[in-house]
This record gives sequence, structure tokens and C-alpha cells, in this order.
Amino acid sequence: MDYLQIQGHTTLHGSIAVSGSKNAALPLIAMTLLSQTKVCLGNVPDVVDIKTLLKLLQNLGATCHFDDHRITIDTCCLTDTKANYDIVKTMRASILVLGPLLTRFGHCEVSLPGGCAIGQRPIDLHLKALEKMGATISIKSGYVVAEAANGLVGAAIIFDKITVTGTANIVMAAALARGTTTITNAAREPEVVQLCEILHQSGVIIEGIGSAYLTIHGTDRALLDIRSFDVIPDRIEAGTYLCAGAITNSTLTLTNIEPKHLETVIAKLEEMGFRCDIAQDHMTIHPAKTIKPITIITQEYPGFPTDMQAQFMALCTQAEGTSTIEERLFENRFMHVSELQRLGADIKLSGHSATITGPSKLSGTDVMATDLRASSALVLAALVAEGETDIHRIYHLDRGYEKLEKKLQALGVFIQRAKE
Ligand code: EPZ
Repeated sequence: MDYLQIQGHTTLHGSIAVSGSKNAALPLIAMTLLSQTKVCLGNVPDVVDIKTLLKLLQNLGATCHFDDHRITIDTCCLTDTKANYDIVKTMRASILVLGPLLTRFGHCEVSLPGGCAIGQRPIDLHLKALEKMGATISIKSGYVVAEAANGLVGAAIIFDKITVTGTANIVMAAALARGTTTITNAAREPEVVQLCEILHQSGVIIEGIGSAYLTIHGTDRALLDIRSFDVIPDRIEAGTYLCAGAITNSTLTLTNIEPKHLETVIAKLEEMGFRCDIAQDHMTIHPAKTIKPITIITQEYPGFPTDMQAQFMALCTQAEGTSTIEERLFENRFMHVSELQRLGADIKLSGHSATITGPSKLSGTDVMATDLRASSALVLAALVAEGETDIHRIYHLDRGYEKLEKKLQALGVFIQRAKE
């Protein structure tokens, strides 16, 4: 197993190019199941989760080619509609094939994803919505078995809770359904917006894109003609590197970004005292005279993203005073707290809230990554810790951060991958 060795007390210099968004690319790859033509996606991040979903599609009989951030996928000759446990257990986002497979073929089986480090993460809302669209759903031997022999029909879906992959799944299911589907309380994340835009450009009429109320006019099982497009930049990777600049109090430039998607993150950094110069597709963060404490409450987009909570917690350890972070989306997304404490952070947990008092003098030691964003928080803390920090179980990082150590090395960080 690989681990990362990082020498702390460092200052960053230079610029970093942000990769394409993992969480946008995943639903877009699932969407290719709706296409009668070969689809070409550009600006795809070269990370493990993307390869996992491609493997799933290949197992179903699709032809996939991934080279230099471009993927070509041909799903015309699919031979199977069963997404096996072996793959789904490694990546929950595999559930994104449920809606497309069911709406296209009228039946499918997708393994239930199982447990997760950050919370229970049920898929009940996906299933309830598909049932409302006419599907018969049963759980057999750990698999969701879904049937809609005559195709799905448009329905009025009201999500009790905002769900990102749930919205994506139902939008894709509705795209080939018979009649019109409305989704109330839809997710408004940029990744969902891009999915809707590409479907709309490919002939599915979708109204309300970017709002919480979507109307999707289905094609009654006519497959789509999806062509080529580029995936949007990864706002969470960008936010993570902004925190790297901030925690080391460096001047750092990010390129290939969409500043609009980063508004709440940038606002919090400015509140902490960092100056941000923002241009159309790049920005520079400058050091703060004093790093001020903040209050964060995670929310659905456009609120503060739960996927940036851990990284900001690391940053708050260097603020002058007490910050509070409330996690509202996932009940168990504080696994990084005990690892940050091992580095010397002063963090108190009470239910869904953490209180972080800084500035703390962190010192390097061995720590363990527990999920993707928790891992990146440990990398950030290691950048300011005295001495060497060894981060174990970095397979979590490899799922969602492309070439993290190469990008940081280019900024002057001593970071290297080693074998246990
Ligand atoms: C997406 O997960 C992201 N994953 C997550 O990114 C992100 O943390 C999350 O949205 C929230 O922004 C991808 O895009 C692939 P949800 P998703 O359904 O869609 C509850 C990362 O680090 N819920 O929006 O699975 C759920 O338990 C990751 O890149 C139900 O109760 O999240 C949670 O409390 C991890 N029933 C809340 O809704 C359901 O049927 C939001 O979850 C579905 C969800």
C-alpha cells in the first residue's frame, strides 16, 4: 500500500492547473448509456473513481477508451444490465447507472452500495422516485432489481431531501421516459447543471436548469445523439488548493477554474483575511496579515460544500481564535478530527459541530486517511506541521485528486509517495 511523506513548514510558489471535475464526470459517463452515438468527453480527471465507472460500463459491454483526459464511450452494443457488487462496493457513485439502465432497457440490477465512512448514505429517494415513474423495485440478495417492461413514465417527483446523485439519476431516467417529469427540491450543484445542459443540447427538453424545480420532457425511449463536450473544472480540487495556499500563507495562482462555482469558498477565505484576485478562468490567493476565525455551516449548493468542510477545518487550526464548523449533510463526516488532533490540533466535537481553537503548532507524525476529503485535510495540515508527516491509506486520495503529489511538488513542497 502507498503512503505519502510530506515535509512541513513550507511556502508554496507558482501556479497549479485544476483538473476536470470528478463529480461532474461520473454522471456524464453514466449518461452515455442514453446515447445511440459514440460520446467523447474531454477534460476528464485521471483518477481512480473514473476508471472504476469505466470498468463498470465495460463489464456491461460498452467500449471505452481513456487517453490524455479524453474518454470515448460507445454503449450501443450493451450485453448486460447488471452492475455487480465487486465494483459497486468500491464506489457508491456506481448507483448512477440505475436510472439510465432502467429507462433504456426496462430492467436492471444494481448492487446496493453498502456502508460508507462519512454516513449511512441511503438511496431510498432514488428508488422512491423511480417507483413513482412506474418501476417495480425489489431488493434481492443485496441487489436493487428494477423492472419497467414498458418503459418509465413521467411523474411529479418531490425529493424530501436534496440529493445530488438522486437528482442526476432521476433526470437521466426522465430523459427517456414517456411524458413529462417534474422534480421539486432538485439539487442545484454545478455538476447537476452540466448534466442537464448536455442532455438538453442532445435533444431532451429540460426547463428550469440550475433551479430547484426541473421539468424534463422524455423522449419515450428514443436514444439520444450525444456528441462531444468538456467536463467543468473541479471546484472541490480548486477549493482544496486554495486552502493549501491559505494554510501556508502563500501567494498561489490556480488556472482552469470556474470562479462562480467557488463563490462561497472564496467568500470564507476573504472573511479569514486572504485577498483573492479573480479573473475569468484563473485566480490568485494572497497571504493574510492575520488569519481570522470563521463559522461554517455545510449546506447544499450554493451553500458551503460539505466536500470542503475537512479542508477548512485544517485551515482553522491556524486561525487566531475559535472557529466553529457545523456539518449538516453527513452524520459521520468528522473522521479527520482525531487525525488532526494527533498532529496537535485543538478541536472539540459536540454532535454535528466542531470547535477549532487556533493557532496550533502542529507537529508531523503518522496519520491515517479515512475518506477522500479527510485525506486532503491531512495533506493541508502536513504542509504547516513541524517535521515529517506520513499519511497512510492514501488510496482514498487517489480516488479523486489527480497527481496530487506532482502538483504540490511543482509548488516547492517536499512530498513523495512511498510503499508501506
Ligand atoms: C454527492 O454524493 C457527491 N458525490 C459527494 O461527494 C458529496 O459529498 C455529496 O453529493 C453532497 O454534496 C458525487 O457527486 C459522486 P446526496 P451523494 O445524495 O449524491 C441523504 C466527494 O468527496 N440521502 O446529495 O451521494 C444522504 O444520506 C463526495 O467527492 C438520503 O437520505 O449525496 C445525505 O445526508 C463524497 N436518501 C444527503 O441526503 C437518498 O436516497 C445528501 O446526499 C439520497 C441521499
